Amino acid sequence: MSQRRLFVTTALPYANGHFHIGHIMEYIQADIWVRFQRMQGNEVRFVCADDAHGAPIMIAAEKAGVSPQDFVANIASGRKPYLDGFHIGFDNWHSTDAPENHELAQAIYTSLKSNDLIETRTIEQFFDPEKNMFLPDRFIKGECPKCGAKDQYGDNCEVCGAVYAPTELKNPFSALSGATPVLKTSEHFFFKLSDPRCIDFLKQWTNSGAVQPEVLNKITEWIEPGEDGKPKMGDWDISRDAPYFGIEIPDAPGKYFYVWLDAPVGYLASLKNLLNREGVDYEAFMADPATEQYHFIGKDIITFHTLFWPAMLHFSGRKVPNAVFVHGFLTINNGEKMSKSRGTGLDPLKYLKLDMNPEWLRYYLAAKLSGRNEDVDFTPDDFMLRVNADLVGKFVNIASRSAGFIAKRFDGKLGAISADGQALLGDLQAAAGSVTALYESREYGKALREVMALADKVNAYVDQNKPWELAKKEGQEARLHDVCSTCIEAFRLLTLYLKPVLPALAEQVEGFLQVNTMQFADAAKLLGNGHAIAPFKHLMQRVDIKQLEALFEPPAAPVEEKPLPGGEAIAETIKIDDFVKVDLRIAQIVNCEAVEGSTKLLRLTLDVGEGQTRNVFSGIASVYKPEELVGKLTVMVANLAPRKMKFGVSEGMVLAASHADEKAEPGIFILNPWLGAKPGMRVS
Ligand code: MSP
Ligand code: ZN
Repeated sequence: MSQRRLFVTTALPYANGHFHIGHIMEYIQADIWVRFQRMQGNEVRFVCADDAHGAPIMIAAEKAGVSPQDFVANIASGRKPYLDGFHIGFDNWHSTDAPENHELAQAIYTSLKSNDLIETRTIEQFFDPEKNMFLPDRFIKGECPKCGAKDQYGDNCEVCGAVYAPTELKNPFSALSGATPVLKTSEHFFFKLSDPRCIDFLKQWTNSGAVQPEVLNKITEWIEPGEDGKPKMGDWDISRDAPYFGIEIPDAPGKYFYVWLDAPVGYLASLKNLLNREGVDYEAFMADPATEQYHFIGKDIITFHTLFWPAMLHFSGRKVPNAVFVHGFLTINNGEKMSKSRGTGLDPLKYLKLDMNPEWLRYYLAAKLSGRNEDVDFTPDDFMLRVNADLVGKFVNIASRSAGFIAKRFDGKLGAISADGQALLGDLQAAAGSVTALYESREYGKALREVMALADKVNAYVDQNKPWELAKKEGQEARLHDVCSTCIEAFRLLTLYLKPVLPALAEQVEGFLQVNTMQFADAAKLLGNGHAIAPFKHLMQRVDIKQLEALFEPPAAPVEEKPLPGGEAIAETIKIDDFVKVDLRIAQIVNCEAVEGSTKLLRLTLDVGEGQTRNVFSGIASVYKPEELVGKLTVMVANLAPRKMKFGVSEGMVLAASHADEKAEPGIFILNPWLGAKPGMRVS
């Protein structure tokens, strides 16, 4: 088989935060495929980069008081421990702000323009007069035009789910300065994706086998005619006005490429940077029809990669991807979606710091991954079971059960293998074809199941022959040697099949078996009679439940001896972003009355400076008389969703202190602000 030449990437992570476990899953998926390809004798360039540009990063840098370049460099400098830690072997890590990317993005744009695929249009957009900049949708807030909910983002309402344009918001304000934005016109550049040439090309490319069937289903409405006879594909706004952290558009002062225009170009920039260092000509490499190009990405960025990006490449006269491989999202404990920005759940660095073996995670994720766009769930119990029962129990144990005898009794050398052992090894060798086919199609879960089924066969052979009993019987020396040699040969084949997933363990085994770096072609051979192996060293620990507990333990657990403040432990640490979600306001109790039919509740009429009052029920009837409260100021949660109660709707909640154990320390104490506070003031 002739050697293939592959160019492989994963999505470029935004440089506004450290990796979370979702990123690590994507890199592990791609890394396994790359290692597999290399074990097939193929030549692979595997690259990634930081996605540096865009308004959110620019604004985050400003808040941090540093330049966007420094901000991004700081994030980039923290990447290595994650990548090394999980054996993720990118050949290059670059940045979309690097010179190669500026050049390539401008060159691609220039080609699109000379192909008559760029159009100028005047659009009207919100502008922040204080910050002197156009506002991206997510930096405009206001009241939902549909349900009136306050503090909603510029594109959709989190309360009622309505989708709208930022210009439809009521009382809009800039999330950056608080100023009221004004509408202002600006010239923008559009990539004419709705051009029939683009639609025709995309129909052909997406149906060429470049995307998974379920992905094709998702994107077909963009390119196939809908009910109105037209595809959904519109032209794509690819420009942004200064100030913007991005790449300048040629011949258009003050205009920058929208971050998603230059981000995928970063794949090429990173490759070019790598090839330059290798002394390989980038243009020739990419012009060669034999070079294959693959992108691993998550399901949230499908349209950018299967529509916009191939069109950019094709209409600038470049190679298009052979395939885009889409994976689903990693969830922790059934469905709790990993937040892109918060990265909750499983902290990859904490995992490594706890001395948990990175190959456990590689094995576990591989066992759950398929070639389809499906979500993957991490469950601690399941993790422990698969690693301990399969990886250690079935696979690693084969070596530990046989290597000792070879060392002690046979001078470290393998012996002759008789017919039953030969038959077993023949079965293992015969699986090479199907295992490689499964890796090639990213069906890692199926590949590992097949390998574990082979390990089951080997373990059955061990249990049948009981080397530990043979070792005690007289005259069974030759059989013991035969059985243990079979086990070592089998262990080598299994290790070879698992090597894309367990590269560090495989390297250890190569040392132990005294063999060269294993390739898939080596499955056809055996070590053979007389081959010497090194003394066996322990290969892999089992997962300890304590490690998993520590991994998911929130930091700073309360110590038992300490008295619990107020009768209960302090809640989990939150970030300021979590706190500001709770809108606390000074409220005046303009009226207060008992609630008929309830001994607990009082009905409060509150003024929070909105020009109208609110009705709030509070469980304080046992401690306060209505007339004591009228006219007083207190603090309320003003943005709590209204709640229907037996006696009416409660439109908020007043704050009151109490001991967790009412009997230990009775009393409820309503809050009362210091003199000077006025109804409607925000408490923060
Ligand atoms: N910067 C863009 C990609 C530009 S590619 C030219 C981006 N960055 S990201 O940091 O938000 O996401 C990077 C990759 O991580 C994407 O492929 C995304 O789908 C993936 N994941 C983010 N969260 C994930 C999970 N919870 N699970 C698996 N992958 C997830 O998008
Ligand atoms: Zn709404």
